[in-house]
Amino acid sequence: MRKIRRVFIVLGLLLGSGFALQASALDMEKAKEIYGPCAACHGEFGAGGKKGEYPRIAGQLPKYMEQQLKAFQSQARLNLPMYPYTKERELPDEDMKLVVAYLTQIELPTKQPVFSDNDGALVRLLAMEKVMIVPRAEGDIEHGQAIYQKNCAACHGKAGLGRGMFPRLVGQYTSYLKKQVDAYLKAERPHDEETAKEGVLYTLQAKDVQDALAYLTSIQEVEQ
Ligand code: HEC
Ligand code: HEC
Repeated sequence: MRKIRRVFIVLGLLLGSGFALQASALDMEKAKEIYGPCAACHGEFGAGGKKGEYPRIAGQLPKYMEQQLKAFQSQARLNLPMYPYTKERELPDEDMKLVVAYLTQIELPTKQPVFSDNDGALVRLLAMEKVMIVPRAEGDIEHGQAIYQKNCAACHGKAGLGRGMFPRLVGQYTSYLKKQVDAYLKAERPHDEETAKEGVLYTLQAKDVQDALAYLTSIQEVEQ
């Protein structure tokens, strides 16, 4: 009797996971479709483009991305290219969640892949296209490390990978990050404080920030 029950439990687990897999596979198809128009700017794999005019969004944190898409939608974060794509009609809440889930699970390796003899040309091409290495930014890396670990790591994480509402910074184009720092300093976008013109970025010199960004480009290979 016991044995039979165990078989049923195992069967149930197998079936359950099978259904879950099927459901998520279907969602992924839909998510890919929703991502279609986004790819024109952010690239097929969400790696961004035009040297950071379009930011990388693959592997960014879901809560953060959803919050930003909402901010583009309400125009709390002003951006002309993004606004039309986030209008309720174009991106209803449900689609927003799906596309965010899709982007979050895309991993962009920071190393050239190793191939086996069986890998065809197309497999190789696709794998190479996914590799994302942000060029080293100029700056004093050692000083940048000290600045980053003291002033930024508490929110953006020791390895720059972010958490929760705090975005990942590592693996993002330096030019894009700089543009955002400028926007924060001009109070066009609120950073770590509700009130404009307060918070950690105002306590630093431009060189400190540049060094911190240089440091971030030096630790890309650490995690993956
Ligand atoms: C016409 C080009 C264009 C299209 C299409 C587009 N984006 Fe963007 N997106 C941008 C630009 C430019 C920025 C950076 C804005 C800035 O510099 O502040 C951005 C920023 C973002 C960000 C914020 C990244 C961050 O780190 O804060 C997210 C998330 C995002 N886009 C997701 C999407 C999604 C999802 C779609 C499709 C529904 C999409 N984008 C379509 C141009 C585009
Ligand atoms: C107290 C928490 C906190 C600290 C400390 C902090 N940040 Fe942030 N940072 C945030 C939050 C929250 C956001 C997202 C804000 C928003 O909604 O626009 C952010 C966003 C950013 C962005 C934009 C990322 C993107 O994808 O658009 C940059 C660049 C950035 N921070 C740089 C820094 C740097 C450099 C430091 C250290 C000098 C730092 N931050 C310290 C909380 C923090």
